[in-house]
Amino acid sequence: MRYQCPLCHQSLQLGSQAWRCSNNHQFDRAKEGYVNLMPVQHKKSKNPGDNQMMMQARRQFLNAGYYQPLRDAVTAILDKQLPERQNGLSLLDIGCGEGYYTGFLAESLNKNRQLTVYGLDISKGAIRSAAKRYSVANFCVASSYRLPFGDNSVDAILRIYAPCEASELQRVVSDNHGIIVTVTPAPHHLFQLKELIYQTAQPHDEVIEAIEGFELVEEQRLSYPMSLSGTQAVNLLQMTPFAWKASEKLIADLAAESDFHCETDFFIRIYKK
Ligand SMILES: C[S@@+](CC[C@H](N)C(=O)[O-])C[C@H]1O[C@@H](n2cnc3c(N)ncnc32)[C@H](O)[C@@H]1O
Ligand SMILES: [Zn+2]
Repeated sequence: MRYQCPLCHQSLQLGSQAWRCSNNHQFDRAKEGYVNLMPVQHKKSKNPGDNQMMMQARRQFLNAGYYQPLRDAVTAILDKQLPERQNGLSLLDIGCGEGYYTGFLAESLNKNRQLTVYGLDISKGAIRSAAKRYSVANFCVASSYRLPFGDNSVDAILRIYAPCEASELQRVVSDNHGIIVTVTPAPHHLFQLKELIYQTAQPHDEVIEAIEGFELVEEQRLSYPMSLSGTQAVNLLQMTPFAWKASEKLIADLAAESDFHCETDFFIRIYKK
């Protein structure tokens, strides 16, 4: 698995400080080690993706370990699915944010095999933080709608709440036992937070997403309660789309809570090509 030039699709080679294709398109390696493979002409806004405030809120919340059960469940699934004692395997975390899962996977999954882990996100701020903290993984700024990787080159994709295009997944995932692991909200996910925002909060629906070209082979549901300080409850709110709907008063009231109870409820699904 190699980076591909977003302009001409030739593979990129790392020179002293930049990635370059045979047509001499060049992409600098940032001092934190990541590469920005998102040319301006592919951008729909100046700073796409999660903003710094959302990124910081997510980092503080994840650092405190509230989603560690999810991280461990995803790691166990990938450890079981990826072949052992094999070299040259690759994993791509799409919409990796500030790299919480990516960094841990790169450390854990390399014990039984030789695996290169990539994290991709459209938010440059998130990728900069990810690369600064987790030198074990390779990070790039790119869109999940134009993956900067060659056809049939990725052994496994992880997608935790990130948008994507089935045709791109189909193109890059290996024909040889390639898999996708997705995490999506199950009916009661963050229901107590939702109840603060909506008069009559509705549970998430249970529709199983079909990904064209892939077959769903396994589904797990992971649910557990969390007990949050006011600060962490506000962090959780700010890392979700609920943040756009919350009034200043609601945020202040939440911050004043000392023990906010909130459920998590995730579907983890495995798809095979
Ligand atoms: C809800 S966050 C999840 C982040 C991370 N997977 C986690 O669970 O901590 C979704 C992420 O997808 C990114 N994102 C949104 N649109 C994207 C796109 N078109 N391509 C790549 N990433 C995108 C956002 O910047 C954000 O970091
Ligand atoms: Zn090129």
